[in-house]
Amino acid sequence: MSNYSSDSFLNALNGKNKSQIPVWFMRQAGRYLPEYMAVKKQSNFRTMSHTPELMKEITLQPMRKYPLDASIMFSDILTCLEYMGSTFEFTDHGPKLANAGIETVKNLGNLDPVKDMMFVRDGIQLIKKELTDRPLIGFVGAPFTLISYLAEGGTSKEFIITKRFLFEDPKGFNAAMTHISTQIANYLKFQIESGVQAVQIFDSWVGVLSQKEYENFILPHMKYIVSEVKKTYKDTPVILYSQPTAHLFELMAQTGANALSVDWRTPLSQVAKRVPQNITLQGNVDPIVMTLDWEKAKPHIEYILEDAKRAEILDRFVFNVGHGVTPFTNTATVAQTIDYVHNYR
Ligand code: CP3
Repeated sequence: MSNYSSDSFLNALNGKNKSQIPVWFMRQAGRYLPEYMAVKKQSNFRTMSHTPELMKEITLQPMRKYPLDASIMFSDILTCLEYMGSTFEFTDHGPKLANAGIETVKNLGNLDPVKDMMFVRDGIQLIKKELTDRPLIGFVGAPFTLISYLAEGGTSKEFIITKRFLFEDPKGFNAAMTHISTQIANYLKFQIESGVQAVQIFDSWVGVLSQKEYENFILPHMKYIVSEVKKTYKDTPVILYSQPTAHLFELMAQTGANALSVDWRTPLSQVAKRVPQNITLQGNVDPIVMTLDWEKAKPHIEYILEDAKRAEILDRFVFNVGHGVTPFTNTATVAQTIDYVHNYR
């Protein structure tokens, strides 16, 4: 079995990794792990993400099981919304937000992480105490993705309410984006101050917007968030996650993020030609591949590595899935994949 590396992940985010290719998986702590399901049986998502000791345990479950090169704190992009005016619960059909709608979006309160979210700081500190040899990633939801949850009340297909808000009331939409971006930037700084060594901004649903809308309504706010973080923490790498956003790579490269996460729909070699060479790429595996037996999964993993090698981006590549792993993920394939990627170079 291969071993993890303590610095390959942060080096890759800085474009200068000379050792093994780092690996982590979005949703690496989650329902595909029997260890996670055991905790869940005795608890619920809110308690799990609000109790520092449980947050630590769940974050560390995949780290104990696999030689992953980075960990991501167990929480959710929706967790902070409660403190800005919208509570939610997770149902079998995904998250369900109370009092959803445009009025809620327009009247969001200020997030005060020091007052309301010390459980996150305590959790980060507990994780760091135990996980001394691998980096910890913090995260937030991006303004558009969070606004879409607040407006639609849950995950959506068409994002009709959110997009109508943008088209009908561009000034109001922009004001809401400005407000929530300030809260998100503060929350990111709070996480970094608490001890995370890199941060990821999840813009899971922004792919529903056109290039024109991204440039006018999203990019300025993403630039603001990244620059706010960098003002205080210039050396903390920022990863921007999104999918399916092949039409947006050039624009997302302008946000100031160190790394862009790439879904499985576009080959890395193509993305590499479209973004500046100082940008790291992360991802590219279809999460469904991770549900297959290793022999069936292997050619897909190999293709990605060969493609990254041909594109000469191995110094600035982080192996990951293009969207979170599913509950049907094959745990043996996860172990084999990590080994294979680590031994590739
Ligand atoms: O990656 C990790 O392991 C860290 C923890 C993490 C979770 N959610 C835990 C979680 C992270 C980084 C997230 C981000 C998140 N949450 C996103 C962005 C990434 C993406 O998937 O696009 C989004 C859109 C959410 C909102 C959310 N949370 C949904 C839609 C759901 C239900 C559907 C699903 O896939 O489970 C959640 C619940 C959730 N968040 C679970 C976990 C482990 C499952 C909860 C459970 O049933 O036990």
